[in-house]
Amino acid sequence: MSRPRLQIVRPELGGPFPEHIAIIMDGNGRWAKGRGMMRVFGHKEGIGSVREITTECARMGVKSLTLYAFSVENWKRPRQEVGYLMELLEQFLVDERPTLMDNDVRLRAIGRIDDLPEAALARLRETERLTANNEGMLLRLALSYGARAEIADALKRFARDVAAGTVRESEIDDETLRRYLYDSTTPDPDLLIRTSGELRVSNFLLWQISYSELYVAKECWPEFRRPQLLAALEDYARRVRKFGGLVVDAPVPGEAKA
Ligand code: FPP
Repeated sequence: MSRPRLQIVRPELGGPFPEHIAIIMDGNGRWAKGRGMMRVFGHKEGIGSVREITTECARMGVKSLTLYAFSVENWKRPRQEVGYLMELLEQFLVDERPTLMDNDVRLRAIGRIDDLPEAALARLRETERLTANNEGMLLRLALSYGARAEIADALKRFARDVAAGTVRESEIDDETLRRYLYDSTTPDPDLLIRTSGELRVSNFLLWQISYSELYVAKECWPEFRRPQLLAALEDYARRVRKFGGLVVDAPVPGEAKA
């Protein structure tokens, strides 16, 4: 069955547009506690933001969106909360299939995926398979993900290849290391957003965000919707990216324009 092509809608941002956005979805617990509810209600409400932001990004033409859904450190949370998050994930992976298909979104997971409970892992593999031929945005869910764990896992695989003689130690450089990360084909994030006002990167994509632009939203994740996304995109459109080089004619901070 062929689906109608996705209509790309871009806001008038007046500047560069990020091809890859990564988001640290923070503040679910605080959002719920601030309303006198249990933390888990914040996670439930956060699903609404996941749906809205995924759909908006896909429609605006973002090529990749990476969401930090569950970190390797999150396993240390109370058993009940972890259990709830896993059930929510399982449900999300089934319920969101029509939305992913309607918006031509391909889903892929990064992280120590084998740590997930069997049922969630099975739903994940099914949804990955179902959306594999979608050609619009790539939605990457970071699950049981930690950047240090990713680098450790990469080094283990690299050491194995060195021992097997398929790669030489002298070949190590940025691009060789990239090949051993969980996903070597998706370009690095252009924009990293964190919600709830916290100024930390929390072990997220440490290697890949070397030159990402950072944006911190004061809203908690359940409140981060289309208007907040547009504010982040407008802010990004004003950034001047230098990647360690120089930009000729870039404004000098504090210097009055002629
Ligand atoms: C941080 O809020 C958020 C998480 C630990 C997980 C993010 C999960 C969701 C948005 C819902 C599930 C998502 C999917 C894709 C199934 P927090 O609990 O650390 O908030 P706090 O800092 O206020 O305590």
